Amino acid sequence: MNFNETKKGKNVSKYITTPIYYVNGEAHIGHAYTTFIADAMTRYEKLKGEDTYFLTGTDEHGQKIEESAQKNNKPTQEFADEISATFKDLWDEFEISYDKFIRTTDEEHKKGVQKAFEVMYAKGDIYKDFYEGHYCVSCETFFPETQLIDGEFCPDCGRSTNIVKEESYFFKLSKYEDALLKHYEQNPNFILPRSRANEVINFVKGGLRDLSVTRTSFSWGVKMPASLNDDKHVMYVWLDALLNYITALGYGSDEANMKYWPASTQFVGKDILRFHAIYWPAFLMSLDLPLPRTIGAHGWWTRDGEKMSKSKGNVIAPKEVADVYGVENLRYFMLREVPFGQDGDFSQRAFIDRINSELSNDLGNLLNRIIGMSGKYSDYEIDSVDVEKYHKKELDAMHAILDSLDDFIEGLQTHRYLEELWKLFAIGNKAIEEYAPWVKMKEDKKDEALATVALVANVLAKASLMLSPVMPKTSAIIADALNFEISSQSYKELIVDKKLLKLFNIKKVPPLFPRIEEPLMAEAPEAEPNKKEVQKQEAAKKEEDSLIEIGQFFETSLKVGTIIEAEEVPKSKKLLKLQVDLGEGDLRQVVAGIKEFYSAESLVQTQVCVVANLKPAKLMGMVSEGMLLAAKDEDGLCLVRPEKPKKAGTPIG
Ligand code: MSP
Repeated sequence: MNFNETKKGKNVSKYITTPIYYVNGEAHIGHAYTTFIADAMTRYEKLKGEDTYFLTGTDEHGQKIEESAQKNNKPTQEFADEISATFKDLWDEFEISYDKFIRTTDEEHKKGVQKAFEVMYAKGDIYKDFYEGHYCVSCETFFPETQLIDGEFCPDCGRSTNIVKEESYFFKLSKYEDALLKHYEQNPNFILPRSRANEVINFVKGGLRDLSVTRTSFSWGVKMPASLNDDKHVMYVWLDALLNYITALGYGSDEANMKYWPASTQFVGKDILRFHAIYWPAFLMSLDLPLPRTIGAHGWWTRDGEKMSKSKGNVIAPKEVADVYGVENLRYFMLREVPFGQDGDFSQRAFIDRINSELSNDLGNLLNRIIGMSGKYSDYEIDSVDVEKYHKKELDAMHAILDSLDDFIEGLQTHRYLEELWKLFAIGNKAIEEYAPWVKMKEDKKDEALATVALVANVLAKASLMLSPVMPKTSAIIADALNFEISSQSYKELIVDKKLLKLFNIKKVPPLFPRIEEPLMAEAPEAEPNKKEVQKQEAAKKEEDSLIEIGQFFETSLKVGTIIEAEEVPKSKKLLKLQVDLGEGDLRQVVAGIKEFYSAESLVQTQVCVVANLKPAKLMGMVSEGMLLAAKDEDGLCLVRPEKPKKAGTPIG
């Protein structure tokens, strides 16, 4: 079997999945985010005319769910039914365009899992042994002692683990180590964003232990296949859960929809990447099935900079936000706010700012302006006949942007996609300012004035088509005002073939995005930070923050400086006071902690690299107006200097 088998070249279909959500609590904003992205991607593919299948659902087995049901004094199935329904109802209310909502308690799913188990067993990939280890019920995962915090706590969630010893069936994960590494190497888009692939590769390189895939300590799970005649065991919840992606297509029952396999994009949160990028492909290899094209791992959402948790009472229910601000605005905000893969913060301020400036100003006002102008100048009639003649430059710029959008979707970069799309509105707004149709009307150049109005109508039409995966209803309203429908047909005409709108009458619409002045929801309660959680969060944040955009790098002004004077700071073991020339009369006092490594006189008339745009700081009462670049290791410190003399003030970068 070639695990790289994709459907490229053939009649491509797109299968997009969300993780299946645990039914131990109701949906929060993080769940909504994954679902929104997957929904937007599916709608995007549909717009392009692709045959798509979109799966979401609920993960209902395992000790965690059993315990939650007990806490709520409910039979487990009844409890699962109730919570699962809250997810389904929410997605229905949000008009999520899923094709199937799977539940792992569905009979067909269970049959499919049993069949997969039998196939793996028959292949010799599953064997029986004993397992003893530290088990985290919350994460439904065993952890080796070396990974535990303080020998007891789960490295993923910080909760305490239990020692569990039981007979278990094991999956030969170790057998697939090399095949997995080869797959990552040959398929750089298998894990997106690529920055996340390294942690997976390193984990696999660190050696894979066979995976315990059954449990005897509880019974709320898929039973063993009858052929194994071993009723004591139930399936490990992650084996059961991961297989949902194929059982939903009928694996093990009616396999007609297996034509959608392999998945094109499987969205997961970063916390469950390991399961999807290691276990899942190994299971698929064992089943002789091709691997998904991409596992897209997104970051976590915090609220006003704080991790959300029930105990802090700061969890945001997506419905609460949608009821107040509108679900489409929420979709836009979440997909625009964070670079895919990075953590995101939900704050009402940031949300309101985007609604007011991007949705209301850039988009809403543009539509209202051309409705107003066309009413005044041409009785609402819009004709694209002269757009090419007067606005070739704008049309070319717009089409170049539209052509570039597909790449952002391929890379799952929704924030870049929307950022680029917004450049269209900038083109429209700028054209109105630059060509001032009202002046042209006064100058008796009606053709030109109407061409500008028609240009903007076309900008809005094309932009609304491309916005429709993210804001389907809003886009449909704009399209309706512009007398066309969002469909793969109009996509083909307006985007692929770059055609313009035909002669039509524009419709008036009420303002799409009324400005919001004040937060509409109660603010999050001030929470007492839990120390362990904060430490973990800070470590995770540090790791995330270590990657920067090139623009961030260029925010630092680095310059070559020549040291003119240097003297020791009295009573300080470490500090030297330097006067550094940064060219063009910019003389800076820099107080540097380098006295143990350099004498003052040896520095005079030598060159150094200076961080030139730091806020001045005071060291031992002296102002320091810059920082010198230096490298320090166990042998000491050395200054970083230009290889050849350069003029003082020469920028570095
Ligand atoms: N049931 C498993 C997934 C099995 S998939 C075969 C599970 N469920 S979950 O309900 O706990 O989480 C579902 C998804 O929500 C995960 O992708 C997780 O990363 C995501 N999120 C949970 N909290 C989140 C945030 N605060 N922010 C963003 N996503 C978050 O794991």
